[in-house]
Amino acid sequence: MSARSAARRLFAVVPAAGRGERFAAEGAAALPKQYAPLAGATVLEWSLRALRSEPAIEAIVIALRPGDAHGAALIASLGDARLHVTSGGGSRQESVLRALEYLVPRAASEDFVLVHDAARPCLTLEEVRALSAALAAGAPGVVLAAPLVDTVKREQGGAVAATVDRSGLWRALTPQAFRLGELRAALIAAAEEGVAVTDESQAMERRGVRAVLVPGSPLNIKVTRAEDLTVAEVVLRGGGAGRMRIGQGCDVHAFGEGDHVMLGGVRIAHARGIVAHSDGDVIIHALCDAILGGLALGDIGQHFPDTDPRYRGADSRLFLREVAAKMRAAGYALRNADVTVLAEAPRIARHRTAMVANLAADLGVEAACINVKATTTEQLGFLGRGEGLAALATVMLEG
Ligand code: CTP
Ligand code: MG
Repeated sequence: MSARSAARRLFAVVPAAGRGERFAAEGAAALPKQYAPLAGATVLEWSLRALRSEPAIEAIVIALRPGDAHGAALIASLGDARLHVTSGGGSRQESVLRALEYLVPRAASEDFVLVHDAARPCLTLEEVRALSAALAAGAPGVVLAAPLVDTVKREQGGAVAATVDRSGLWRALTPQAFRLGELRAALIAAAEEGVAVTDESQAMERRGVRAVLVPGSPLNIKVTRAEDLTVAEVVLRGGGAGRMRIGQGCDVHAFGEGDHVMLGGVRIAHARGIVAHSDGDVIIHALCDAILGGLALGDIGQHFPDTDPRYRGADSRLFLREVAAKMRAAGYALRNADVTVLAEAPRIARHRTAMVANLAADLGVEAACINVKATTTEQLGFLGRGEGLAALATVMLEG
């Protein structure tokens, strides 16, 4: 890996220090628009959702108004170690710059920073992925944008003065992303020259950096006026964003000769071993099947056939990592997974934390997204007679 690509880590900044004056003007909103209730959460929580679903983003810095205890408490309540809070400034431009300053000791100058408005709750994971793919392909910066579809008029004294040629015109959405060092320098230069910029790209254009336009959805609206909340509610509840899929998996292996079993990637000493072509890890096999099932991609046997000598005695964690890559390639992220082991023995309680850590690492999610539990079958049936092990898994995938 070259030094340059090794340095290309991804961070995010969310300016959330605005007063939402246009929104507040239309009603008696007690709090700024980023805290308005929306589809069972708040505008800000929804705006963070797609960023939080992307494991490649190392940290997300949220700029709040100084003294905004409500916002700080809301972020803290999410219990997400990747979320950081800092103080914003008097304009969006200043808030973004302050969040970048917060990142300076934590990130490299070449690292990319996605900047996303706290007031854009309908951002999808696919849009985040499209932006990071363009960066990975070598873009110096990226702007999510939507082509203009309406005929555009120039007004003079309340009347139409001219029709503007709309070809080649795009509406800039967020996120936009640039290298931390370059964006910081561009925003400092704009501030020093007293130039107000309304997005990051504008600051970068002044320095000759040509960001790549990445097509985004027109549903990625900015909540500016009260009626925008109604549109966002329809988008978020109506399937315009947040495609969810569910998957379930089940795996059984018989006990045979041996002195240990593999469960959740943990080697557990046991009086018997497992009869299997691979290492016979029923937790991981059930989880792989659940993810593949949720994606409508068949099952583990199709992807890793037991007739293939490459998989003899294979470490099942390799399967899980490959399945996770397929999931990401399909544009989905794991929201949560719940696994139940069915066995009289061995006991798994004291191995649970290690199992969860393995699974979370392979899937690229936080440990809080994964649960592993176990039950006996009250000595009933083949499991009760101690003839083998079984596991069930259920996953929720979000695209
Ligand atoms: N923003 C910010 N700091 C400011 C002003 C704006 O972080 N001093 C943020 C807003 O919270 C919002 C984003 O920048 O997430 C886009 O700005 P805008 O839609 O204009 O929000 P407000 O400035 O809050 O709204 P208004 O202009 O109507 O007052
Ligand atoms: Mg504003």
